[in-house]
Amino acid sequence: MTTAPLMPTSSNLLDQPEWSSFVRNGRAATVHPRRLRLVEAAGVSLDLTGQLFSPELAESGAALLTARNFTYHRDKLLSGQPINTTEERAAWHTMLRAPAPVESVNAERQRMIEFVRNADSERRWRNIVHIGIGGSDWGVRLTVGAFGYAGMWRQVRFAASIDGHAIEGALAGLDPHDTLIVLASKSFTTAETLENGKRAVEWQRSAGVADPFSNVIAVTARPDLAKAWGAKESQIFRLWDWVGGRFSLWSSVGLTTALAVGTDVLAGMHAGASAMDTHFATAPFESNAPIQMALAGLVNRCALGYASLNIAPYDFRLSNLVPYLQQLEMESLGKSVDLNGDPVSVPTGPAVWGMPGTDAQHTFFQWLHQSSDGAPVDFIVCQEAGHHWPDHHRSLLANCLAQREALLQGKTYDDALQECLEAGIEPEKAKWLAKHRVHPGGRPSNLIVLPKLTPYTLGALLALYEHKVFVQGVVWGINPFDQWGVEYGKVLAKGITAELSGGQPRNGVAHDASTAYWVNKFAG
Ligand code: F6P
Repeated sequence: MTTAPLMPTSSNLLDQPEWSSFVRNGRAATVHPRRLRLVEAAGVSLDLTGQLFSPELAESGAALLTARNFTYHRDKLLSGQPINTTEERAAWHTMLRAPAPVESVNAERQRMIEFVRNADSERRWRNIVHIGIGGSDWGVRLTVGAFGYAGMWRQVRFAASIDGHAIEGALAGLDPHDTLIVLASKSFTTAETLENGKRAVEWQRSAGVADPFSNVIAVTARPDLAKAWGAKESQIFRLWDWVGGRFSLWSSVGLTTALAVGTDVLAGMHAGASAMDTHFATAPFESNAPIQMALAGLVNRCALGYASLNIAPYDFRLSNLVPYLQQLEMESLGKSVDLNGDPVSVPTGPAVWGMPGTDAQHTFFQWLHQSSDGAPVDFIVCQEAGHHWPDHHRSLLANCLAQREALLQGKTYDDALQECLEAGIEPEKAKWLAKHRVHPGGRPSNLIVLPKLTPYTLGALLALYEHKVFVQGVVWGINPFDQWGVEYGKVLAKGITAELSGGQPRNGVAHDASTAYWVNKFAG
């Protein structure tokens, strides 16, 4: 095994003067509600007015990036060098959406387009059951939801979880003869996906489909395993080792998207993401959207101490954006050792959560406005609606702006009191009630505006987040491309599954009392 090179940025952040001055300047900076801070990138507007700012903070952000060898890492990322050191591979998702990709990528792209063209011209497969989990699932759900929310010629169902209800529900009521199973798994070893895939093949066979695998597509970096599993060689689409699972949306994993909403959608997303890649590679630090977003996030996490980030897409079509970004952000930045294997001495990636607006306003926005903690919020909205009810859209836009303004400006005690008095509440009661109506304000937010939701703008939006996460990974000195934390539980689950089926407990390691109790009870 080759030893992965140690990265020059993995020194202890607390020993780095540029870090200390960044955090110090972050704490001293304030929000300037009257000064618009707007960065435009690939057709997307990023409004940072709701974030802390000072010229000193901006300067120390740039100095920090230089001290962390940011451009060196960015070059490695974009040129496909093995930046994922713990897995000894590149993270070259930008190549998947490049306008002139390497030959292997282009060939697979063309194969996929050809496959969809044939299926469409033969009017084949009215139903698709997409089986995959994590990165082999969320990007497809997101794009199918975004562009097929109002109906599609093909019906698309998803099965991700090992919970049998997932595959049962996905198959229910479909005609097996007219259903394509798309099984997406980069590793082709993921237990959930393989089990669900088996159920789908059995379902086809028991319905009398003579050759069930003719209705199965496998998308994987391990065509050998897919073939051994039964997939037909001509129906296996490839991805590569250097495509991280949570970045695989840009590969043939998008086949379901293409069958559901068209190959043009993928092409548009590639174009938008690629435009964001170019912006990320070339725009100066101060007008570079992913960089500025990353620095604002670092201030929120490490100078202000916010442990979470709320995502509020004010767009029904982006219902799956939150889980998509949860995987992207938390699988990438949920680490606490640096590239040398030493503990990172400062807090790293925040927990990411959220829900589309305006539903979110009636669920947890109270906490965002008035709790003792609060969280920074990314508001995301489209200027132009995709429907024909302008009143709805005006109201949606108004709600988005209003919530953000309330977080930013807050409401003072005096204003709250005045409001109560004007409502005719008697003075003593008004003084008491006003205290409950105070909004502290100054709670950080981004506003991200897409002119309208198109494949291009969605592609650009996702690439914006990808690169933001990368920049933060560089500053923290962690590897944002591995996910060892997910592996341990998988191993334990395998052992417990064997025990539940009558096997022996794992050698050597005893369960804790509670796990032992429930393993016994469930096995009984
Ligand atoms: O959840 C862990 C993970 O390894 C993700 O990184 C990945 O997207 C998912 O499992 C599915 O993996 P695969 O595509 O190999 O089935």
